[in-house]
Amino acid sequence: MNIDQLKATITTIPDYPKPGINFRDVTSLLQVPEALRETIRLMCEPYRDSGIDKIVAIEARGFVFGAAMALELGCGLVLARKPGKLPRATRAAAYTLEYGENTLHIHTDAIHAGERVLLVDDLIATGGTAEATVELIKGVEAILVGAAFAVALVDLPGLAKLSALSVKAHHVIE
Ligand code: PRP
Ligand code: HPA
Repeated sequence: MNIDQLKATITTIPDYPKPGINFRDVTSLLQVPEALRETIRLMCEPYRDSGIDKIVAIEARGFVFGAAMALELGCGLVLARKPGKLPRATRAAAYTLEYGENTLHIHTDAIHAGERVLLVDDLIATGGTAEATVELIKGVEAILVGAAFAVALVDLPGLAKLSALSVKAHHVIE
């Protein structure tokens, strides 16, 4: 599958979840086995020889891509979760979305200083979610090797935000 064919598997829903938002829905990509396999392969490509110790994947859709990539890269998987979901001690960072506000948590023992970490999510839009996750990863003095997204909404400031934080980001579909 080429990039245009991958892009065609993503559905766009106008005015969801709020008026004015053109929602890009990756669930329709997940339904096509070849599209999922090729997206995961392309997301992993830049990081095959990067010695990644842990992927930090963001709830909820990021978990799907992060788990598949962790198997392919042979690294650990850390879940960055919304409040009240992780049972042990956590560290947290707050962020703003196109359609609301939230906080992300990781377990305090999930990543350690000096570990090589890759941030993974399905999609980057304003970059608020990714920025909060960068704060969690850098806060424990882990080495943030990069950030991988299936989709980047390039008209929104997410990628520029990561670049301003000196985080290298890759995406498959625009
Ligand atoms: C969506 C998406 C990203 C984030 C991107 O998640 O999966 O995590 O928003 O937006 P941003 O770049 O503007 O921060 P959402 O919070 O809707 O959660 P979900 O995956 O649990 O549906
Ligand atoms: N699609 C999916 N998730 C999102 C979007 C979108 O268009 N914008 C912010 N998060």
